[in-house]
Amino acid sequence: MLIYGTRPEAIKMAPIVKALKASEKFECVVTVTGQHRAMLDQVNGLFGIIPENDLAILQHGQTLNSILSKTVEGLDLLFNENAPDAVLVQGDTTTSTAAAIAAFNRGIPVVHVEAGLRSGNRLSPFPEEVNRKITSQIASLHLAPTATSKSNLLAEKVPGQDIVVTGNTVIDALLQTIQKQIPFTDSRLEAAASSGERILVVTTHRRENQGATMRGMGRAIARIADREPDVTIVLPVHLNPVVRDALLPALVSKSNVLVIEPLDYGEFTRLLSIAHLVLTDSGGVQEEAPSLGIPVLVMRDNTERPEAVTAHTVQLIGAQEERIVEEVIALLHDPERHARMASRLNPYGDGHAAARVVAALSELFGTGRRMPDFLPSDRAGMNE
Ligand code: UD1
Ligand code: UDP
Repeated sequence: MLIYGTRPEAIKMAPIVKALKASEKFECVVTVTGQHRAMLDQVNGLFGIIPENDLAILQHGQTLNSILSKTVEGLDLLFNENAPDAVLVQGDTTTSTAAAIAAFNRGIPVVHVEAGLRSGNRLSPFPEEVNRKITSQIASLHLAPTATSKSNLLAEKVPGQDIVVTGNTVIDALLQTIQKQIPFTDSRLEAAASSGERILVVTTHRRENQGATMRGMGRAIARIADREPDVTIVLPVHLNPVVRDALLPALVSKSNVLVIEPLDYGEFTRLLSIAHLVLTDSGGVQEEAPSLGIPVLVMRDNTERPEAVTAHTVQLIGAQEERIVEEVIALLHDPERHARMASRLNPYGDGHAAARVVAALSELFGTGRRMPDFLPSDRAGMNE
C-alpha cells in the first residue's frame, strides 16, 4: 500500500505506482489521506491514478496534530479491515510520518521513499526535519535518493544492508512529463513564453517562513518587479490562505507579476524549463530545476538537498526581503555567473529510480534482487 497526501508526495509516488502496477509480483493499493485536495487530485489526474482509498482529511487551517491524528485513526481502520504486506511512505510530510507510525503500530513493515535527507536543524524545515527522523526510526527499508542521504542514515546507525540508493523518483516524473510539452491553459503564460523576455518563477509555502518573513518576500517580489520591468515574474501561488494573505497584498498592481493558481505538473515543469531563474523555498523544485539547467535561488538558510548547492546550480540566499532583492537583481545582471549556474546536471536521479524501488521491494519480499545503487553522472537522463 502506497500512502500519500500532498502534491509533492503524489508527484514522487506516481512513477512507483506505474512501475508496481506493471509488475506481476505485486498488488499495489493507493491510499490518499487528502491532506491536500485540489493540489493532490491535480497530480493523480495527470498520472491517471485513481486511489483505492481516500481519508479526505483536509480542513482549512488544519493543524499538524489534526493531520496526524486523523491520518493515524483513518489508517488504523483500513489496516484493521485489510492489512497490507508493506506500506510505502514518501518524504517528510505529516501524512508520511503519521502513516509510518500507524503501520508500525500494526506490525506492518514500512518502506521509506526519499529517506535520509537532513538539514541538521530540527526547526528548519519545520516539522519536516523531525518527521524524517521519526520515519527513519520506524522504516525497515530505506530508499535513499543519493549517496549523501545514505551516509546521513549510516551516521545514525541505520544498517547499511537496509539502505538502497535509488535516485529520486521526482526525476522519473519530470522526464516522463516534460517530453509531453503540455500547452499553457493561461494565455498570459503562453504570451510570456513566446515574448522572449526573461521569466522569473517564484514559489513559496514553507511553514517556518509564514507570517512576517513571507510578507517580506511579497515586498521583495514587488521591488524586483519595479526595478526589472522587462522581466516577467510568474508566481503560481500555493492554495494555503495563510500564504496568499502574506504574499499577495504587495503584488496587486504589478503588471509584470503574473499571480496564478497552482499549475498542473505538466504546465509547471514546462514553465520551469523556460525560466531564466527560479526563486523558491520548495524542496521538489530544488531537485527538478538543476535537471533542466535552470539556476535556483533558495529562500532558506539551509537545505537537506546539498548536492546541487555543491554543484553551484542552487544557491541559498535566506528568506529576508533585502537579501532576496539584492541577490535576484545581481544575478539578473551577471550573465557569466548565470551561465555558470545554468549547467545541466542530475545529482538527484537518472529517471530509473522507480525501477530501483521495485527491485528493492522484490528483495524485501524474497522474490528478487536489488539493482545497483544510483550513481549520478553530469548529464544523465535528459540526454539519453
Ligand atoms: C504540506 C507539507 C509540506 C509540503 C507541502 C507541499 C506538512 C506538515 N506539510 O504543507 O511538508 O512541503 O505540503 O505543498 O505535512 N490547501 C487547500 N487545498 C490543497 C492544498 C492546501 O486548500 O489542495 C490549503 C488548506 O487551507 C490547508 C492549507 O492549504 O489547510 C495548508 O495545507 P497543509 O498540508 O497543512 O500545509 P502545506 O503548507 O501545504
Ligand atoms: N509544482 C506544481 N505546480 C505548481 C508548483 C509546483 O506541480 O504550481 C510541483 C513542482 O514541480 C514540485 C512540487 O510541486 O515537483 C513541489 O511541491 P511543493 O513546493 O508544494 O512542496 P515541497 O517540494 O517543498 O515539499
